[in-house]
Order: sequence, then C-alpha cells, then structure tokens
Amino acid sequence: MGTHRNTQSTPTTQTATTQAARSASGRALILHPVLRGTEDDRSPEASLEEAVGLAAAIDLAVAHAAVVKVSQPRPATLLGGGAVEQYAALMEEAREAGDAIDLVIVDHGLSPVQQRNLERAFKAKVIDRTGLILEIFGERARTHEGQLQVELAALSYQKSRLVRSWTHLERQRGGFGFLGGPGESQLEMDRRLIGDRIIKIKKELGEVRRTRGLHRKARAKVPYPVVALVGYTNAGKSTLFNRMAGADVFAKDLLFATLDPTMRSIRLPTGRTVILSDTVGFISDLPTHLVAAFRATLEEVEAADIILHVRDIAHADSEAQKADVEAILRGLGIDPEHDPRVVEVANKIDLLEAEDHDAAIRRTARADGACAVSAATGEGLDGLFGILDRRVTAGREVVEMDVEHADGATLAWLYAHGEVLDRRDDDHHARLQVAIEPALLARMERQREKRVSA
Ligand code: GTP
Repeated sequence: MGTHRNTQSTPTTQTATTQAARSASGRALILHPVLRGTEDDRSPEASLEEAVGLAAAIDLAVAHAAVVKVSQPRPATLLGGGAVEQYAALMEEAREAGDAIDLVIVDHGLSPVQQRNLERAFKAKVIDRTGLILEIFGERARTHEGQLQVELAALSYQKSRLVRSWTHLERQRGGFGFLGGPGESQLEMDRRLIGDRIIKIKKELGEVRRTRGLHRKARAKVPYPVVALVGYTNAGKSTLFNRMAGADVFAKDLLFATLDPTMRSIRLPTGRTVILSDTVGFISDLPTHLVAAFRATLEEVEAADIILHVRDIAHADSEAQKADVEAILRGLGIDPEHDPRVVEVANKIDLLEAEDHDAAIRRTARADGACAVSAATGEGLDGLFGILDRRVTAGREVVEMDVEHADGATLAWLYAHGEVLDRRDDDHHARLQVAIEPALLARMERQREKRVSA
C-alpha cells in the first residue's frame, strides 16, 4: 500500500464493462491507463474492474470502461493523442444520443494541467484516482478525526487544482465537490479561503488528538469483545458482516446507541456476545498524502480484540491484495503473521473450481487462525463462528492483579467484567484474584497501557 505499482505489458485498448445506466446521479467513463515498460503483478483488467467497483460504490453509473494503453505518456494529457480523440468522440456521440456522460475518471494520477486539458478535450469533468479515492473516503470516514483527515487531504489536493468544472452535475449528494453538485462552491473558494480552512482543521485535529484518551475510555465501556473486519476493497466484508449479523437469530435488537451503523452486536452460538465492526476497504496505490486520512478511518481496528482479514480467494490478484492489506496492518502496529488477534477468512470459495474449493477448506482447516467461507452462500460460517467462540470464550482464566486504589476505573471495570474471587488490600493497592476471559483482559490492558502512555 502506498508503494507505487506500475503496469507491465498491455493488451490493446479494450472495453471491459458496459453497465446500463442506473438511476444514479451521474454517468461516468472510466479509463485505466497502462503505461508501457512499467511493471506490475496485477492484471490491467482486474485494476479496471476495481475502479469500476469504486465508482459504483459512490453511486456513479458506469457508461463505459476501458483499459488504455499508453506507449509514451504525454505531459499535456498523460493519454496519447489517439486515445484522447477516441474518447472525445465517444463522449460526443453519447451527448448527441441524449445520453451524455458527465464525468471521466482516469484511474491514475493526473497533474492539474493534464486534468484541465482532458476536461477541455472531453468537455466534461475529469477526476483522477486521488479524487476518486477522496470521494470514497469522504463518504466512509466515521470518526471525527477521520473526517478531518479526509477533509484536510481533500483541501490540499484541491488547492493545486482550482479549476472550474466544465459541467454542473446535478448530483444529490455530498462529497468534496470533485464531482460537482452541492460541493461546487468549494471549488470556487479561492486559495486563501482554502488555506484558512486548512489551518483551522489542523488546529482542530490537534484538539481531537488531545481528547482521544477520553474517547478510548468511552469505547472501553463497550462490554464485549470487538471483532473488526478488514480486507481489500470488494473482498466481501460487508456481505460477510450482514451474513454474520443476519445469522444471529437469537439477538434482540442489540444495536448500541453509541455504536454507528457499521457496528452490530451479535451472539455467538455459545451465547457470548461480540461486536462486529465493518471498516473501509483497502486499496492499492494509495497516494501517500492520503495514507494519514486512511489510517484515521481505521482507528477501530487498532483497538479490536479479533481482526478478521477477509480475502477474495477467487480473485486473480488475491496474493497481491493480501500483501497490501498486511502492509497496512503492519503500519497500524499489527503483525499479521504473529498477532494472535488476526484470523484469515478466505471468502468467495463458492467461486472456486471443486478442486480448489476443497483445497482451500483443507488448508484452512489445519489452522485455528484461518477459515474458508462463502459470505454469499453461508458455507463455512459455522467454522468461522467456532473460531470466534474459541478465541473469545477460551474459558476464563484466573489471574492475579495489583491495582492501585487510585485507579478506580480499572477496579470498577474488573468487577463489571470478571468475577472477583479474592481481594486483599494494603495501603495503596488491592491485590485481586479475578476469573476473566483472556480476550477481555487483554483489551483492558491495552486500554490501560494507552492511558498510561498518553
Ligand atoms: P468495499 O466496501 O469496497 O470494501 O467492499 P467489501 O469488502 O465490503 O465487499 P462487498 O461485501 O461489498 O462485496 C463485494 C462484491 O462481492 C459484491 O458484489 C458481493 O455480492 C460479492 N461477494 C461477497 N462475498 C461473496 C461470496 O462469498 N461469493 C460470491 N460469489 N460473491 C461474493
């Protein structure tokens, strides 16, 4: 993640997807440029498909999508002259047919000049990969810090691109204005206003960080272990999340007022409750200045008790995606190979040939840190729940702890979550013998360490 992947050899320009326009608020042309002579371990088609998926995720109707071979990147337009002409003609045809395409997404970095020149040629708004990702992050950032980080990244990006859009899309959505619509006024802010806002956000971010300890305290009050779903975009996290939450036939509506909609409490087969937390999908080629924004949206992962790494095992680039996700986890201080919190979930096994399907099940059956599932059909869910159960309720352990009398929060927590079997007090400390689930205890210890180091 964050490392730049370039692309290798290239098929000729080809159409990958033509999706009928939905009743979405904008129609888009998506171009995935493949620069000659550069290397990559991903297929251009899969990369294009990913870009199409991302566009669909922000409710754009994909009118046309193609891989574009670039033999010699042109400073003025990135794309070659032939390609610019070809797609300008396609845009014109669509306009004449009364089916205008409002937006062109170039799935690559574009300089402000390239963006402007392409907008002129296509007579439509053009955004690059960073713009697309910012839109997605903007919709998905959940914590206040995440939202501020994304806005900061968006403003810094915009500052260098104060260009008016060619078209005015009547989009009924928020976002940062790269796509036009309600955010349009932001585009018209002059540099000074943007600069002022950046200063303000930086100040606010400082304050948010100072009060972060308080938020952690609030989170520590959630009395159940937290299971975070992470994974490459399109791996099936949300589908698995819904499947797991839906499978919970016993649960009343346990949605916590303090939890946002991407968190659900579910009851495991043994009756233990855990909180499931869905996160934003990971993406390769993340522009470096977006990394901070992205990390801020993953705060809940750092604090999770169990981390399910959901993988699309049927994807041609499954291994490259795994490497990307693991690199991000490392960036968050989580060692995916040794951290006992990480469980690998090989998803979409229904898409595998019988032989590979069976091999995936055999491979994961040997390890307690992995399982094979299909979020679509529900196959393997029992195994996954079994792993969660074992991890969460591996049985209570009896531990001895010295807690300072002054640390009333920890004492109260231990009484609330464990069973205090014995207590001896001296002048400053209480020595407790507590029966408690190891996962819960580890969670509390992590919170305590953070409090101490904060
Ligand atoms: P992001 O929100 O981009 O991070 O994606 P995600 O990881 O939440 O993936 P999502 O659940 O949206 O699923 C992506 C696509 O894969 C959807 O079209 C799902 O229907 C499909 N999908 C998810 N799980 C399975 C599965 O087990 N089998 C099959 N065949 N398709 C699946």
